[in-house]
Amino acid sequence: MASTKALERAVTIADLRRLARRRLPRAVFDFIDGGAMDEHTLRDNEADFAHWTLLPRVAVDVAARDPSVKLLGRAAALPLVLSPVGIEGFFWPGGEIAAARAAAKAGVPYCLSTNSIASLEQVAKAAPEAERWFQLYFLRDRDWLNKLLDRAAASNYRVLCLTVDVPMQGRRERDLRHGFTLPLKPSLATMLDLACHPRWAIGAARSRPSFGNFEGIGRGGFTSIAQHVATLFDPSVTWDDVARIRARWRGPIMIKGILHPEDAAKAVSLGIEAVMVSNHGGRQLDRAPSAIAALPEIVTAIGGRAEIIVDGGVRRGTDVLKALALGATACGIGRAAVWGVAAGGEAGVARTLAILKAEFDNAMALIGIERMTDLTRDHVRVRASGRS
Ligand SMILES: Cc1cc2nc3c(=O)[nH]c(=O)nc-3n(C[C@H](O)[C@H](O)[C@H](O)COP(=O)(O)O)c2cc1C
Repeated sequence: MASTKALERAVTIADLRRLARRRLPRAVFDFIDGGAMDEHTLRDNEADFAHWTLLPRVAVDVAARDPSVKLLGRAAALPLVLSPVGIEGFFWPGGEIAAARAAAKAGVPYCLSTNSIASLEQVAKAAPEAERWFQLYFLRDRDWLNKLLDRAAASNYRVLCLTVDVPMQGRRERDLRHGFTLPLKPSLATMLDLACHPRWAIGAARSRPSFGNFEGIGRGGFTSIAQHVATLFDPSVTWDDVARIRARWRGPIMIKGILHPEDAAKAVSLGIEAVMVSNHGGRQLDRAPSAIAALPEIVTAIGGRAEIIVDGGVRRGTDVLKALALGATACGIGRAAVWGVAAGGEAGVARTLAILKAEFDNAMALIGIERMTDLTRDHVRVRASGRS
């Protein structure tokens, strides 16, 4: 683990990324860090936030700032949700539980991935105080899918996050090169690299990672994500399947992986309460638009009928402020939280959230708002073009 001092010295999310890089073998770090093919979309997710500038108002009383929002009917202390991330327990023993606990302490929701190492029951038991959401992939085995829904409801996961952008996995070339793929064929360099990170390797070996939510289906053992996806996930999903899940799940549903405004409108017409504007962190279709670029059209298409969560490239409190000014209710964070997990488990995610909170609070004061309802579209402008 990065020492407590090193975590405390991390001032930005980029600092946490550097700590994660130091602790993890390259193949594992690249699995987190990388995107599909040439990684254009991955880069655009971050870079396109620069398309917007923040326009402050002055001489506003900002002495008592409150960054909380209402997110699908519940208060969140910050306009953030921890996006679902597979195999967190491979990055840090008990990674899912560590992240859920840190999220609970910070007062923000934690969304558990279908592909977690800890099972959804284990996370619920170890982090009962967390506002827990469960992310579902469409599985070929519909009985197992229904069972997962029932298990999530029985373990009090309040919101279902339905991910719709993985009919098959994107081509992640860093993983192909490292052999972090189907079947697991680590290159010699990768094997040496694993051996050079004994602290991570011992933790990973001791925790004997497997896909916790698939124990009993006969494929619980950890092989590779690519193999797992190819074997279990259903590429034939349509809106009819979305409607069937809507009919089965009693609580709110957020659909994740929407970029086209007509898909957003379709989801809302089926009774979906929230749309997550996301390209899966640039890990699926390369050259898809960035999340922040896709947002304005989706805001128009939805016209206030559902909540919108922007997910992709959020590294700064000012990114969150921009997304909200453009009409989002909150932002999802993927890597920002995972780098925290990988750098220091619960303490690392706590650091991620503390950094984003401090930056967000600072930006609220400087732009001249006391609460989130004060923020409007008038607080952002398109940046003058031609700047590097
Ligand atoms: C290592 C890793 C694993 C991921 N696993 C999942 C997953 O299991 N389910 C899912 O819906 N999205 C998954 N995602 C996508 C994230 O939920 C999120 O959409 C993305 O990371 C947002 O971009 P950001 O990392 O720039 O914040 C994963 C992302 C990363 C980096």
